[in-house]
This record gives sequence, structure tokens and C-alpha cells, in this order.
Amino acid sequence: MKITVIGTGYVGLVTGTCLAETGYHVCCLDVDPRKIEILKQGGIPIFEPGLEDMVRRNVAAGRLSFTTDIAESVAFGDVQFIAVGTPPDEDGSADLQYVLAAARNIGRHMTDYKVIVDKSTVPVGTADLVKAAVAETLAERGESLEFSVVSNPEFLKEGAAIDDFMRPDRVVIGVDDERAAAMMRRLYAPFQRNHERVLLMDVRSAELTKYAANAMLATRISFMNELANLAESLGADIEQVRLGMGSDPRIGYHFLYPGVGYGGSCFPKDVKALVQTAKENGHDLRVLSAVEEANDLQKLRLVHKVLARFGDDLSGRRFAMWGLAFKPNTDDMREAPSRVIAEELSRRGAEVVAFDPVATHEAQRVMGDIAHLSFADDMMAALQQADALLIVTEWKMFRAPDLDAVKRALKQPLVFDGRNMYDPAWMREQGFDYFAIGR
Ligand code: NAI
Repeated sequence: MKITVIGTGYVGLVTGTCLAETGYHVCCLDVDPRKIEILKQGGIPIFEPGLEDMVRRNVAAGRLSFTTDIAESVAFGDVQFIAVGTPPDEDGSADLQYVLAAARNIGRHMTDYKVIVDKSTVPVGTADLVKAAVAETLAERGESLEFSVVSNPEFLKEGAAIDDFMRPDRVVIGVDDERAAAMMRRLYAPFQRNHERVLLMDVRSAELTKYAANAMLATRISFMNELANLAESLGADIEQVRLGMGSDPRIGYHFLYPGVGYGGSCFPKDVKALVQTAKENGHDLRVLSAVEEANDLQKLRLVHKVLARFGDDLSGRRFAMWGLAFKPNTDDMREAPSRVIAEELSRRGAEVVAFDPVATHEAQRVMGDIAHLSFADDMMAALQQADALLIVTEWKMFRAPDLDAVKRALKQPLVFDGRNMYDPAWMREQGFDYFAIGR
């Protein structure tokens, strides 16, 4: 079985490389020649721990190749994974133009049976649209070749993508015909561990599963953020509350961390898209709409703490910001709370000096329009003469800083921690004015 992966972003590149690692021959296509050039040179266009070595190893072994040639890539794979972006449209619904363009390309060039797999996160009903797009382009050529369309949403997390793909909790496969079901089972056989990981279901349920899972995770975050804000008013410590809640196995410890709001390429757009899908089908998902609203407010929570301390006019103030990426171990800046925070501080006249261990380059690209924002090469350099430190992303390297050096660099020992990285009592003992979330 040979495999084509369409789109070499965070999902496509990991999918293609991990499939090659298990022995498959994989061809990855992208329409962005810059990305393919970097990959051909032995680099990778994104930051993902462990991925670059794995790409090199599989290219060297002759199992993994990259191309911008659509005809070549369609001819290559028996299975064609579509892993292109599905960004939000103006009304919040998923923009399917890239998915459908990929589908039409397959229809235009295929010469034998293909299993076409929607790996991108796509709304319920997309498999039908993909099927129609392929059939239409085949008809334009006067061909009537057989093909199947399968939904196989991806659950990997950026920053831990390789491990998530190689050792999945579950592999959701939505499929309506036996031939494709058998091929998908065989394809994922190398990823079974001590028990069956593949969940076969109908296509629509698979499509909805991905949105349901992300919506649930986003809900936990917004719920904890609101509780954290309440805890502050009540004089409770949300970290203690979190432990008390999480020990109930029905609740569990995961995803109960309050902070500066969720960001990234998935939760914001998937929550929006699900709300929109519901609306189109006559349902008002009130809980999820509130999740989104609470998240928008939470992104400004740290700024409000700064304003409570310094007043509404921040001109002449300088703030150090540690962390730009929407979470650690990635350079992904999509919907990162850091952007909202820096924008608001800047709008109020403050200067912001930011540091991130890997996302600076990407941040320069997407935050270049923010006035009075600059980027430091090193975490300590960002602090020089700043009125306070704001912690926005919980990178490991921020966990145990040299607090004496931090104190010396700042104008005053003042920290606004949006990720609850330190023990408040310890910070006070060290002489800091320390503000965290919910404690
Ligand atoms: P991305 O934006 O990093 O990558 C998409 C790639 O597709 C780009 O390189 C783009 O040039 C390429 N592309 C667009 N149209 C194309 C075409 N017609 N032919 C070939 N290549 C084309 O996107 P990312 O983050 O990898 O996400 C892809 C999908 O996976 C989205 O639907 C996303 O919601 C979903 N997803 C993303 C996860 C993540 O952590 N980033 C996790 C799980 C799902």
C-alpha cells in the first residue's frame, strides 16, 4: 500500500513521516513551493520536537519524498490523505476551499481506485462534498473510476505530535464501504498496541467526533478559567481546587489548568465551526457559545491585572513578556493569547519586549504590525528595565529562573503569571509582588 499525503503542515508532515517510519512508502504534496524546497533540503518548515530527524531518516531510507507535482502525487498513493488547512470563514464555519481543491485534483489525475481520506478537521457532511467534487471532475474527463471517501480525523497535539501519532489513544475511522474499511484497518495495523485502537464508525459520526472532542476540551478550559476568576474573589486557591476536583476519576486531572485562555490552530476555530454547524441545523449550542465568550475575555485577564496596578494609561511603561507561542513546544502562533495581550498593552501606550525560545520568527511575521513591540534573543535580556514580567506561555525553561537575576533586571520585583508556574508563597518569600490566575 502506497500513501500520498496532501498538505505538509503540522498534521500532514507528521502523518506522512510517521507512516513512512512504520515502513510505508509515502509521497507528500504541498502547493507551497517554499515548504517543499525546505523539505527537499533536509529541513522542516515548522518546529516539532523530533520531527526533523525522523524526516531525514525516512528520506534517506527512500520511503519518504516531497513534491509540488500534483499529477505525480495522485499517481503515487493508493490512499490519499487530505491534510490541508480548514481555517474559519467570516461566519465562523470551516472554509473548505483547500479540501475541495485537493479533492478536485485527485479527480483530475486519478487512473485507478483510490481511498480518499479526510484527515483535516471538517464539518459533518464534508465527505459527501468531497465525493461530489471527485465525481464531478471525473465526469468532466469522461471517466467513471471507483473511489471511496473516508473520514479519519487527527487527534495529535502539536509539541507531542510524533508520540501521539505513533501511539494513538484511538484511531477514528468513519467509513461507509467494506473495501475502504479493510484498507484503513490494514493501514493502521502497525499502530495497534496492547488493544484495539481503531474505532470504525459511520462517516458522519467520525466527522462529529473530532469537533465534539475539541469542544469538550475547550469547555474544560473556559470552565476552569471562570472558576479561577471566582476563586480570586473568594480568597480560594484554584490550584488546590483543581487537585480536589481532578482526583475524582469521573473528572480526571487533564485539561483543568486555568490560564490566559486557549488559542492555537484548532480549539478556537473548531468551537466556532461547531456552533455554526449547529446554527445551520436549527440548534443553539448555548454552552459552547459561552465557552467562546469566556475565552475571549480570559485573554485580557492578565492585562486587567496590569491595569489594576498601573492604571489605564500605560505610556512610558515597559513590560517583559515570556512566551509567545499558544502553548509550549511549538512555534504555532495561530490565535495565540500573546497577540491579544501585546496588542492591548501597546494600545495603551506601553512598550513590550517579548521572548520565546522558538516562536520568535513566526511571531515577527504575524505580530509585526503591533507598535512598540520588540523581541529579545534571551529571556533575561527581555527583562531589562521592565516595570513587570508577564508570563504567557509555560515553557519549561521558565520554570526555575534565577530569581535574583530576574529581580536585578526588572525595575521592581513584579510578576504577572498567566500560567501559574510558581508557588505564590515562595515568590513572596523571594520578595516578589506576584499575581497569578485564580490564587
Ligand atoms: P497547516 O496550515 O499547517 O498546513 C496545511 C498545508 O496544506 C499548508 O502547507 C498548505 O500549503 C497546504 N495546502 C493547502 N492547499 C493545498 C492543496 N490543494 N494541495 C496541497 N497542499 C495544500 O495546517 P495544519 O495545522 O496541519 O492543519 C491541517 C488540518 O488538520 C486542519 O483541518 C486542522 O484543523 C487539522 N488538525 C490540526 C491539528 C494541529 O495541531 N495543527 C491537530 C488536529 C487536526
